Parts: sequence; C-alpha cells; structure tokens
Amino acid sequence: MLGLTACSGGGEDKAAAPAEQAAAPATAPVEAPAPAPATTPAAATAPAAAPGATLQFASFTGDAAAGQRTFAQCRTCHAIEAGVNRVGPSLHGVVGRHSGSIEGYNYSVANKNSGKVWDEQTLFEYLENPRAYIPGTKMSFVGLKNPQDRANVIAYLKTQA
Ligand code: HEC
Repeated sequence: MLGLTACSGGGEDKAAAPAEQAAAPATAPVEAPAPAPATTPAAATAPAAAPGATLQFASFTGDAAAGQRTFAQCRTCHAIEAGVNRVGPSLHGVVGRHSGSIEGYNYSVANKNSGKVWDEQTLFEYLENPRAYIPGTKMSFVGLKNPQDRANVIAYLKTQA
C-alpha cells in the first residue's frame, strides 16, 4: 500500500532576513586627535610664490542663493546639517574650520594631516581641484572649474554655520 501523502506542506520558506539597511550605528573609533606638540610650521598662510598669481576669492562676489544650487553637487556626499556625516563629513560651519576636525568622521591621512584651515581662500583653491590640492584625499570630486561657482558655494557655506 502506498500511502499517498500529499505534499501540501504549506511552503514555509519565506526568507526571514529583511535586508538590514538601518542606518549604521555610529561606532566610530574614538581616536584622540593627534597630540601634535610644537610641530606647527608658521607657513600656514603664505601660498608659495605662484608664478601665475593665484586667483583670489576676494575678487569675486559670491551669490549664496546660486551657491545653494551649486551645492547640489556636494550634497551627494555631504550633508549641510551639523553632525551628519555621509561619504564626506558634514559641511556645517566648515568655513573657518580646521581640516580633519569632525569627530567620528574617518578622514584620509592626507586630509587629516593637511594642516589647512578652511577659510574662504583655502576653500576657493581647494574646490578647483581637490585631489591636486590635497594629494591622497579620498574626496573624489573633480572640482568646480568656474571660479564664480566656487565663490558662490563658499558664500552659501558661510550662511550655514
Ligand atoms: C564624491 C563625493 C564628494 C563630493 C561630490 C564632494 N565631496 Fe567634499 N569630501 C568628500 C570626502 C570623502 C571627504 C573627506 C576627504 C578625506 O578625508 O580625504 C571630503 C572632504 C571635504 C572637505 C574637507 C572637510 C574637512 O573637515 O576637512 C571640504 C571642505 C569639502 N569636502 C567640500 C566639498 C564641497 C564644497 C563640495 C561640492 C562643491 C564637495 N566637497 C563635494 C567627498 C565628496
């Protein structure tokens, strides 16, 4: 006798693993900022004598509203809100900030040790071609070639502090 057992088991193999895409818990390694003792070269300001005269932020008038639109290009990687790090660190209050200073953001060594203060002129030069300005940076952004675009986005950043 063949007991014809109907295979009506009620397929119970629902994948029980909902993709866990909750925001990654901020388990940032708490690194104490390098206790650089007296290694501050006083050459932080003067840009080395560039033959072709460096373009000056001060000779542009930044338009913050236009800069907000330009910032759309940055927003892929940066939040403007304080404390929100994405691919790149939050840019809240970045104007005047020391490079590599956002707690809990995992900077490249190149950025972290660049010794920049993100003032207007520094940003103006950096944003033209970030990877040339800070070799080794992990900010893979081609840059804003148009100086007016840079002046605008910096004007916008200044309003977000
Ligand atoms: C493709 C992603 C990406 C885009 C687009 C991008 N950034 Fe970044 N940015 C980064 C990353 C990643 C870093 C961290 C760099 C490092 O640690 O080397 C960074 C770092 C910076 C820093 C240094 C911050 C600090 O605390 O030292 C500034 C300033 C900055 N970005 C401004 C901008 C601006 C302004 C734009 C738009 C014009 C922009 N970035 C577009 C990814 C991006």
